[in-house]
Amino acid sequence: MGAIDHPLAMLTGDEITRAVEILKATGDVPKGALFAHIVLHEPDKAVLAAWRTGDPIDREVRAQIVPGPELGVVEAVVSVSKGDVREWRVVEGVRPALLMHEAANAIFTTKQHPEYIAALARRGITDLDTVQIDPWPAGTFDYPAEDNRRISRCISFVREYATDNGYARPVEGLIVHFDMGRNEVIEVIDHGVVAMPQQHARYFAADHQPLRADLKPIDITQPEGPSFTVTGNLVEWQKWSVRVAFDPYEGLVLHQVCYDGRSILHRASVTEMVVPYGDPGELHGWKNAFDAGEWGLGRMTQSLQLGCDCLGEIHYFDGTLASEHGHAWVIKNAICMHEEDYGVLWKHVDLMGGTSEVRRSRRLVISNFATVGNYEYGFFWYLYLDGNVQLEVKLTGIMSVGAIPPGGVCEFGVEVAPGVYAPNHQHLFNVRLDLDVEGTANRVYEVEAEPLPEGPDNPWRNAFRAKRTLLERESTAVREVNPPMSRTWRVVNESVRNGLGQPVGYKLVPTMSTPTMLAHEESSVGRRAAFSQHNLWVTKYDREERRGAGEYPNQSSGGDGLPSWIAADRELVDEDIVLWYSFGVTHFPRPEDWPVMPVEYTGFLLQPVGFFDRNPALDVPPSPAGHCHD
Ligand code: CO
Repeated sequence: MGAIDHPLAMLTGDEITRAVEILKATGDVPKGALFAHIVLHEPDKAVLAAWRTGDPIDREVRAQIVPGPELGVVEAVVSVSKGDVREWRVVEGVRPALLMHEAANAIFTTKQHPEYIAALARRGITDLDTVQIDPWPAGTFDYPAEDNRRISRCISFVREYATDNGYARPVEGLIVHFDMGRNEVIEVIDHGVVAMPQQHARYFAADHQPLRADLKPIDITQPEGPSFTVTGNLVEWQKWSVRVAFDPYEGLVLHQVCYDGRSILHRASVTEMVVPYGDPGELHGWKNAFDAGEWGLGRMTQSLQLGCDCLGEIHYFDGTLASEHGHAWVIKNAICMHEEDYGVLWKHVDLMGGTSEVRRSRRLVISNFATVGNYEYGFFWYLYLDGNVQLEVKLTGIMSVGAIPPGGVCEFGVEVAPGVYAPNHQHLFNVRLDLDVEGTANRVYEVEAEPLPEGPDNPWRNAFRAKRTLLERESTAVREVNPPMSRTWRVVNESVRNGLGQPVGYKLVPTMSTPTMLAHEESSVGRRAAFSQHNLWVTKYDREERRGAGEYPNQSSGGDGLPSWIAADRELVDEDIVLWYSFGVTHFPRPEDWPVMPVEYTGFLLQPVGFFDRNPALDVPPSPAGHCHD
């Protein structure tokens, strides 16, 4: 089976092949069935905790089989070590993520449909080779076409040539409802012709001559190599250890993040993201792609390029996924890892003593980029010398646009180029943080500033303290950010104390933008992406609770995932708890975001609080004094 040195080693191509053999040997996989995913069935925590180097490893693989065009899937678990089927469960009434194979069929089949060809002809478009069709997740809006089908809504654009910016010329007004499972057009809907924007929107160097000529090179050199080591998927760097993994939906996953051998995070990943559009019109009102659960941040990950995407001494991890036909599919250079200088770590000049001390900050960067149709999302995890952990999401790529007539009104968006309309929208992410601070028995305090009223205890009216509120149960642990009061959430282990007698802890700090869902909570997307209605949810750990909107967000009617799990209202004090944090960007488009968007950032920080007795980075050596280029 190849070198599987740990229960959390990344899934291999051989394991995918073996899993498919075992499943097919049952005789119960129908001919023509597709595999929505084949992933490592991660061992339960108790199994992992008991495992020691050299122990036998029973590798379980989880597969989702799509038998045919009807609703329903099979969830199976097999042991590729023992060759047996451990679970076989038929799940009725659900739809898998959109399948690439079927999306490709949708493009081909739609282009042959006479009503579609006629609708293009009404717009003067006769060369079908220039037409780009984007099948979109359909959402749930009570169209008869949605019933008992796995559908997409296809929208169209025109390219002048094969590598032209495909989004410069939207075919306004035209939507095709497509049955993905049956590979057939359900209906062609034409809301009326709008003139096509005329300007090109190219972003290639050849289209923007002359290029600026005064950018001198910056070279990152590490003459002695990087400071990290990689063994299988285990990374060790500056007292940190972490296992890197890759999932078709979540993309990059971090396991067993420890500092100095002390546990901080058992598992961290982006579990879901949704892009709801704020325009109520026919072409945009239904747009709310779940880019993790409907497309997949791993499935859409693209290979990275040394010197372009990644600068410095890079280690790449490949990502191995299963194709829908059950073959191993390797994304070369899917995950980039390197060290980055990050300015000043700490500094003090002693004016009396005459000493000057400064240390440079450095971080380990582990990242991937997903291209989900028009948009790109970069997921950058940073580990710092002072114990901080950060996730930064980088949003770039091309906005989803429509065409408007000259002088058209843009109440719900903005004209970003003549005749090109970019509707307001949000990018709302959900991250699952299975914090295990020095063990699994943890609790969460909400901590925020509390200014005291004036009175005898507060004669200067200046006093404020840190108010701590214990989040005791799931029902009361659904929380919002509160920037004026610097609200954070502190996860502590009461049974492990630092040298000052305080419980060791880590806090979740909302450092960047933190919008919640702007669509009504009872709207279709409000119900389906309930995770985004609140910034923080806390649940008791359950191996089966994996993604914020549940396993089947595609065309779901909502209520899955977090709202259904917290209905149990489990106790959270000194239990194995999981934090689910929702954050993101509310995007009011700018002309500067066109034709390709400069990176916009969002994310959060995890910071030690009493995890150490003092600044843990006092032992970072000073850097040698350098000199400037002359
Ligand atoms: Co945007």
